[in-house]
Amino acid sequence: MIEQQITNNPTAQITQQAPTSHKKVLEFVEKFTSLCEPKAVYWCDGSDEEYKRICDLLVEKGTFTKLNPNKRPNSYLARSNPKDVARVEARTFICSKREVDAGPTNNWIDPEEMREKLMGLFKGCMHGRTLYVIPFSMGPLGSKLSQIGIELTDSPYVVANMRIMTRMGQKVWDVLGEDGFFIPCCHSVGSPLEEGAPDSSWPCNPENTYIVHFPETREIYSFGSGYGGNALLGKKCLALRIASKMACDEDWLAEHMMISGIESPDGKKTYIAGAFPSACGKTNLAMLIPPKEMTGWKVSTVGDDIAWIHKGEDGALYAINPESGFFGVAPGTSAKTNKNAMESCRANTIFTNVALTDDGDVWWEGMTDEKPAHLIDWRGNDWTPESPTPAAHPNARFTAPASQCPTIDDRWEDPNGVKIEAFLFGGRMSHNVPLVIQSFNWAHGVYLASVMGSEKTAAAEGTAGEIRRDPFAMLPFCGYNMGDYFSHWLNIGRELSQMPLIFRVNWFQKDEEGHFMWPGFGDNMRVLKWIVERVRHTANAVECPLGLMPEYEDLDWRGLDYPQEKFVELMTVDKAEGLREFESQRLFYRPFAEEQRLPKEFVHELALLELRLERSDEVWKPRKK
Ligand code: OXD
Ligand code: MN
Repeated sequence: MIEQQITNNPTAQITQQAPTSHKKVLEFVEKFTSLCEPKAVYWCDGSDEEYKRICDLLVEKGTFTKLNPNKRPNSYLARSNPKDVARVEARTFICSKREVDAGPTNNWIDPEEMREKLMGLFKGCMHGRTLYVIPFSMGPLGSKLSQIGIELTDSPYVVANMRIMTRMGQKVWDVLGEDGFFIPCCHSVGSPLEEGAPDSSWPCNPENTYIVHFPETREIYSFGSGYGGNALLGKKCLALRIASKMACDEDWLAEHMMISGIESPDGKKTYIAGAFPSACGKTNLAMLIPPKEMTGWKVSTVGDDIAWIHKGEDGALYAINPESGFFGVAPGTSAKTNKNAMESCRANTIFTNVALTDDGDVWWEGMTDEKPAHLIDWRGNDWTPESPTPAAHPNARFTAPASQCPTIDDRWEDPNGVKIEAFLFGGRMSHNVPLVIQSFNWAHGVYLASVMGSEKTAAAEGTAGEIRRDPFAMLPFCGYNMGDYFSHWLNIGRELSQMPLIFRVNWFQKDEEGHFMWPGFGDNMRVLKWIVERVRHTANAVECPLGLMPEYEDLDWRGLDYPQEKFVELMTVDKAEGLREFESQRLFYRPFAEEQRLPKEFVHELALLELRLERSDEVWKPRKK
């Protein structure tokens, strides 16, 4: 057992067992060991053998239930504390020196005040627990586009998940060398275990949760939660909030985007990246299976959540997926909606807050048409189809190795990244946002992405259905002033000689009865094909008040009987609604304008939009041939 191998002298373990002589790393670990007062320190090596020992420990602690190896080899189920089930945006802080640098969309607290608060919280917070040192690389090991983080945590659940989500372990020390740069990440579940006291299977401290970022000094502190993005600090905290600030300073982009390759029948591949808020089908899009009638078209997966994008010497943009696993939303995922995700979690997977079947497998809402007669639900209670509550939590997750995805792209670990030729931006909007719009140019595309809205979901907190603006799907993830982020995007565009095209998409429009008007899933390939053909200059588009769009005959309808009238409905632009939206965009921009952080290009874009709408028909429809 890991905990038994450890002696009772944590400070001695740091130097005796340290697999690195990197001075700053040792200082960092020493500092937090004396602050947090764990009973032991353990340096993770990332080996298979270690993973097994950590999982055995979690089974022993009651955090993990081992699933039936015949059904789900080498896989586990974890049930969290019911108060610790999602990211907590209200408790997420960007502590830049000046409030204005965090901007109107972030929670800000003075860094000195926050440091004092954190020192108080972390003092003695690991009593009775082991402090694990997790060295990890976001991005392929050794790639010049990758970054190294070191997470200190008292949660073995975090260690097991980080092993799947990042390149973790011994090799990271080799890459880091004696003085390489790393991002320090401190995590505690905030639940010290005093001598003789019983432990919980999911220790946490929901009343005292803090997810804190110091963007200028590139530091992360997380206290009180053991769940997902709150605790797996490589993901949202490092790869988005801290990385977005680094990207702004260093002239690259860190984005909440999936990346996939679209291959046409002639074998030519075009890579796209797409930003969508949580639970808008980003993973489904990354792993899309085209309708079989669209012979020869294929989609391959580079990443499902985050893209780090750099300018190449040729003036084009190149993206890597900094993660090595998927932390996917389970409910709604099925062999019908996303066969590749189901295959990805067929083995070697950690499930959190899904239901347990009587034969030791997992189940969640939407996995099968028929509900099992009996389950143990995510809270550990008996469940039957008559039960009033869902069997799986709506934000239940699977943590699965990306390499297990059947459509994983053969260049997904290319250290130089893949060339991005189109950006997609999409939210969940039941009305007034057409199926697809191409921007007129880069600045117009950046503007379209900046006013993106989406109806709320469980992962994003709040009442489902309510609309919130989520610029670039980065609202909860931008580590600095969002107005500066917009300017950064505009600046990047100025420096490119091979410009990706920008599209706004919306798969979620509903008719008057509340039914989805577009089939979505694999049929989104029809839109992707048009996008790729626009990139390759082989498809037609018409101008509408909002941008450029396809006409009915520009999409490939093989295998789908979709009436032209319905397509026209999907693409209609209503002048009155458009003007209302224009007013709401002006309001949304106001706080940025008040801080002098609104790019002047957006003022022009709004003026042009107003003009185009005023000159348009009351109801603009694509021409019917
Ligand atoms: C996620 C999210 O978990 O965006 O990816 O919430
Ligand atoms: Mn995400």
